[in-house]
Amino acid sequence: MKHIFQKGTDREAPVLLLLHGTGGTENDLIPLAELISPGSSVLSVRGNVLENGMPRFFRRLSEGIFDEEDLIFRTKELNDFLDQAAADYGFDRKQVVAVGYSNGANIAASLLFHYSDALRGAILHHPMVPRRGIELPDLAGVPIFIGAGSNDNMCPPNETRDLDGILTGAGAQVTVHWEAFGHQLTSSEVKAAGIWYQQNF
Ligand code: MLT
Repeated sequence: MKHIFQKGTDREAPVLLLLHGTGGTENDLIPLAELISPGSSVLSVRGNVLENGMPRFFRRLSEGIFDEEDLIFRTKELNDFLDQAAADYGFDRKQVVAVGYSNGANIAASLLFHYSDALRGAILHHPMVPRRGIELPDLAGVPIFIGAGSNDNMCPPNETRDLDGILTGAGAQVTVHWEAFGHQLTSSEVKAAGIWYQQNF
């Protein structure tokens, strides 16, 4: 997958996996990594799917309706890519913390839904429930930050509460941070995610 890898100065710090929103690129979230964990290595990936020229991490049938078959395929593709990147760049595969926004948060949530050891933790900015009606792997103790907007039409508050319940039910330690805004990523939400990260890693 097209990506950027930046080696960090702190070998003990988790590797931050950055996953952009629809229409973004691997450059978008680099400034977030510097705020969250300046010493971490950074692996920032571009989604392999194009929707009218806009990169995404999996296909959708319409807004908010995902192509489940492609979601499963792309989730495995990303998980396999992480295995390969860990070998190629010499980082610990078990120390990957995802930071995703919107579509990027959804593929990160999908990694958590399908693989017990894909991620050591995750910061999900405005995620949705990637799939319903499946049993999740054991996520005991996995710290997850969800940033949500009470006026977010793309992922309404009920969707956030459902995702919280599903991840918590699988054993994850979920923190939900609410903003009184819509789908956008605000600087106060980024700041809250940074504080949460410092408390958990
Ligand atoms: C998705 O398709 O993943 C969500 O609708 C969010 C987005 O548009 O990126």
